[in-house]
Amino acid sequence: MFYRRIGDDLQVALTLPQHAEALFALTDENRAYLKEWLPWLGAVTTVDATRRFIDLTLDNFAKGTALHEVLLYQGEIVGVLGFNTIDKTNGIGRVGYWLGEAYTRRGLMTAAVADLLHLGFQELQLQRVEIRCATENRRSRAIPERLGFQFEGTLRSVERVGQRLHSPAVYGLLRSEFQAKD
Ligand SMILES: CC(C)(COP(=O)(O)OP(=O)(O)OC[C@H]1O[C@@H](n2cnc3c(N)ncnc32)[C@H](O)[C@@H]1OP(=O)(O)O)[C@@H](O)C(=O)NCCC(=O)NCCS
Repeated sequence: MFYRRIGDDLQVALTLPQHAEALFALTDENRAYLKEWLPWLGAVTTVDATRRFIDLTLDNFAKGTALHEVLLYQGEIVGVLGFNTIDKTNGIGRVGYWLGEAYTRRGLMTAAVADLLHLGFQELQLQRVEIRCATENRRSRAIPERLGFQFEGTLRSVERVGQRLHSPAVYGLLRSEFQAKD
């Protein structure tokens, strides 16, 4: 298993096929909570769909174009995060994340994204990390804001989630900025 320890009770692990059942259960329990912000829930209605997703993320990890982690709190999967895409040509990692609702508001995701920044800048040698959050998604936006990202602007009407077209706020952190505050 490939773990990174973040705190006494908190770890991340590379998402593997053996996580499929627990990850699907967490997704299914939190469907109503997540569907306001995430566009893919309708496509994940069985554990096989989660398995196919994990296989895809591992293919992309092998190619160096993504890195998907499960977040483990006291040994249980409580959320996911990672670089949904890695643009190898330009050295850019684009971050995504979600938590089961019961595990929100404890700082778990902020700590996990801080660790992902170390992985991205120090081990993957990225030059930029980007986070896009729907403008109204205050809790998601608070994560890059806590971690010292710059707000760079808003893209208008680029992502359909349910009936709504979201306009993401774009946050960026450059390698030089990360090194200056690390
Ligand atoms: C986005 C999401 C992961 C943020 O969850 P979160 O619980 O707010 O984030 P964290 O785990 O970093 O916790 C931060 C909260 O814990 C509190 N906290 C407690 N201890 C903390 C610590 N040591 N460090 C930072 N925050 C701490 C913060 O004050 C904050 O709570 P507040 O909003 O009431 O002030 C979650 O809302 C989610 O999964 N949403 C649905 C999916 C989604 O929107 N994904 C993002 C798409 S771009």
